[in-house]
Amino acid sequence: MRTIDWVDGAIELIDQTKLPHEIVVNRITDLDSLIVDIQRLAVRGAPALGVAGALGVALIAAGSDDEAAVRADAQRLRDARPTAVNLSWGVDRVLTTLDGGPAAVLQEALDIMAEDVAACTSMGLYGADLVRSLVPNETANIMTICNTGGLAAVERGTALGVIQTIHEQGWLKEVFPLETRPLLQGARLTAWELTQMGAPFRLLVDSAGPFLLSRGIADAVFIGADRIAANGDTANKIGSFSLALAAKHAGVPFIVVAPESTIDMNTASGADIEIEDRGSAEVVSFAGTRTTPEGTEAVNPAFDVTPHELITAIVTDRRVIRTDLGETLSGIDFGATRTA
Ligand code: MRU
Repeated sequence: MRTIDWVDGAIELIDQTKLPHEIVVNRITDLDSLIVDIQRLAVRGAPALGVAGALGVALIAAGSDDEAAVRADAQRLRDARPTAVNLSWGVDRVLTTLDGGPAAVLQEALDIMAEDVAACTSMGLYGADLVRSLVPNETANIMTICNTGGLAAVERGTALGVIQTIHEQGWLKEVFPLETRPLLQGARLTAWELTQMGAPFRLLVDSAGPFLLSRGIADAVFIGADRIAANGDTANKIGSFSLALAAKHAGVPFIVVAPESTIDMNTASGADIEIEDRGSAEVVSFAGTRTTPEGTEAVNPAFDVTPHELITAIVTDRRVIRTDLGETLSGIDFGATRTA
């Protein structure tokens, strides 16, 4: 089952707010519903947002031949969430085909969807090879945060896609996903995906991650990315930065896994990345019940930025960039996506 797909003239997506309790598919036939589903995280994760942006433009273009109106709607879609560059990337790439009419626009969006599946397979192979070379043990314990699996993409994920590949290759010992406060993408979604794939795991509260790295619980940390700046600084789910600091302290490889659509060479460094603040409500309550005194306000950044100095390597669908060995993103030579 695909996380997001184009079915009979509409977008269908798994409503991730309902997992792990039930699998509900939302059928989206208008732009406003898509924007609402993006903002309430029914569809989420950078690669899936790229596909949502692309299919969203196809939806808009199918309903209007007024180019100015299509572009204005596309801008609203682009702005639905600010941090994951894949959303604006998907919208902008599909908009380049507007002159060809709705069929051309849809084809471009479908191409993006197919490319995502190939890219995730490729990242899994590159990432697994990298861990094999970095980890001396025969089996690997991996820590991760948020959800970077098939639910964050189309079929297969990025960081969790690497973990899945290692599991399929038979040398995954155990996964330690962090719960990922406040919306529990790790507890609800990653734990669900690991259960589906039959991979051994034990869940950690977020604040246990850094300490347990210092006690040697994991051989490597894998995270996804919402935007990688030109200098390699990486925005990802809040909590990634503290894991990176702890991994550096413990001498554990800290690896970012993302398709090249997540690399934003127009953003110089992490300081230039807009971080979405999702407001107080998600923090002052738990599962709909207030846990704080009336009137409590919260600061709720959805993401943080890990400085490139703390990152061992960036694994993309086309290459491994060993930032720890001084490799950088500048002058990237684009080649064919690895498929085997
Ligand atoms: O707020 P979310 O759930 O969209 O945040 C998702 C993440 O931070 C992921 O790690 C990132 O998008 C990479 S997904 C492969």
